[in-house]
Amino acid sequence: MKIVEPLISEINNLFNKYDIDEEIDFKLSNIENFDYQINNLVKYQSHKNIEEIVSKVNLLLSSHELLESFEITQNYFINIRINLIDCDKFLSNIQENLSTQNPKRILIDYGGPNIGKPLHVGHLRSLNIGRSLQKLNKVVGNQVLTDIHLGDWGMPVAQIIAFCELEKIDIKTLTAEKLIDIYPKASALYSDSEDFEHRAKEKNKELNNQEKKSLNEWTFLKNISIESIKEMLSMLKHSFDLWLGESDVNKLIEPMIESLKKEGKVGLDDNALVSTQDADPKILIAKSDGSYLYLTTDIATILNRLENYDFDTTLYVVDARQKLHFIQLFQTIEYFNFPKREYEHVEFGTINDEKGKPLKTRDGGTKKLLALYEETFDYIKNINNNLDENVIHKLTNTVLTYSDLLTNRKTDYKFDLKKFTNISGKTGIYVQYAQVRAKNIIKNFKSEKTSHQLNIQTEEERNLAIGLLNLELIINQSIKFNEPHHLANYLYEISNLFNIFYQDENILNLENEDLKKSKLLLTKYFLNTTKLVFDCLGIEPVDEM
Ligand code: ARG
Repeated sequence: MKIVEPLISEINNLFNKYDIDEEIDFKLSNIENFDYQINNLVKYQSHKNIEEIVSKVNLLLSSHELLESFEITQNYFINIRINLIDCDKFLSNIQENLSTQNPKRILIDYGGPNIGKPLHVGHLRSLNIGRSLQKLNKVVGNQVLTDIHLGDWGMPVAQIIAFCELEKIDIKTLTAEKLIDIYPKASALYSDSEDFEHRAKEKNKELNNQEKKSLNEWTFLKNISIESIKEMLSMLKHSFDLWLGESDVNKLIEPMIESLKKEGKVGLDDNALVSTQDADPKILIAKSDGSYLYLTTDIATILNRLENYDFDTTLYVVDARQKLHFIQLFQTIEYFNFPKREYEHVEFGTINDEKGKPLKTRDGGTKKLLALYEETFDYIKNINNNLDENVIHKLTNTVLTYSDLLTNRKTDYKFDLKKFTNISGKTGIYVQYAQVRAKNIIKNFKSEKTSHQLNIQTEEERNLAIGLLNLELIINQSIKFNEPHHLANYLYEISNLFNIFYQDENILNLENEDLKKSKLLLTKYFLNTTKLVFDCLGIEPVDEM
């Protein structure tokens, strides 16, 4: 049973009859004594039927069993207060109650590491947001497929192979650590030396022509690289359904271009191949030396996905600095008449240092994710020396995930360990602590029986129950905008409401058994909700702290 959704659709139907055809603006209220507000009517003050609409809304709400009270203000704000009589039906079975009527098939392209380079700080947000969107969509019953979309083809790889040849490094003796050193050197040499640039381009051609020796070296590089990527991802508790990459669509590019040529969708321009659509700048499909671009690979990847994994929506969780790339990609496939599907660039900002610059190592290099993890781990261990290592690992992931998801994804944020680990701030540590408290109450309650229905008496209990009911709205909002920060903020809100409820009186010492059992039931509902929310954020709850 959903709580607010049926009400929203009833109001929607009513508005539709008066040609008010828009989504119901149903929000949490911060007006005292009200839980929600509906703001749609405010802008219809001069609608010819406004009096009639208001009277119909009045009629609907007065007889609605979900409401305890409501008011329609002079400006047509509708404020409502919920009747909690039925809330057990929702709270006792949240997972089932959240499922959508029309499940969609969603493909999420995120992570996007490049072989030969370690995971770095720049990958953290894509990983966190992508995983959260995966979990959120699964929770409501959408079918989700995740693809890491490895950068495993093209010049960067050719540079590494060419560098090894030049320096007489036997690729077969390489380890992931050694590889990490090589890429920056190869890339620097590529910019400095024309001779090396030429060698790397030759390698790239050999790879594109599937020449055996280079291809074998490439396979070896890819394997050790993937192994080390997987090791880091398992530490951060990430996993992917598909481990495809740019190399997997390389063979599709030539036939794709041939058929686009026939259709007149691409043509030569100064020896380069461009899309014939009217765009400024022209959209480049192949350079004059015949090499393909990042965009070309992404177009072929869409073809591959259409063919092999049908989906309704693709989400690309990629840095906002690639905005133009995705605008061009979506425009181009529309011009190429690809089957109609939804595509969205779920963009995000950077993680900065205290000076507001993207987080780097001390000497200005890219900061590895492993280094960030270890720093965070040591910081937490220092504060809580007697915690089990296993718990510290979970808290490390909590901090790296929660602080990241809390910020609106489009905004940059400063990485500040002191702030992120503050036990009384809006932090991962705070929300972990609240649920540990709740677990302890349940653990220390010895009797077998708990109630099956809440008996709400105090304002603190009511606020917590309403908070828990809001999950439905928050999950919908997070999915609709692909914004996990609503959920992360919500977790803080309900943890805070729980703490207030907890501090109100000592539950286990209560004499009145009925009230005590009702409070325990509310504590259980809180725990079930936090468990689901933790999961949707990609955080593992700890059992002790
Ligand atoms: N490997 C790319 C990079 O490092 C990210 C890939 C994002 N996904 C995509 N389909 N373009 O920038």
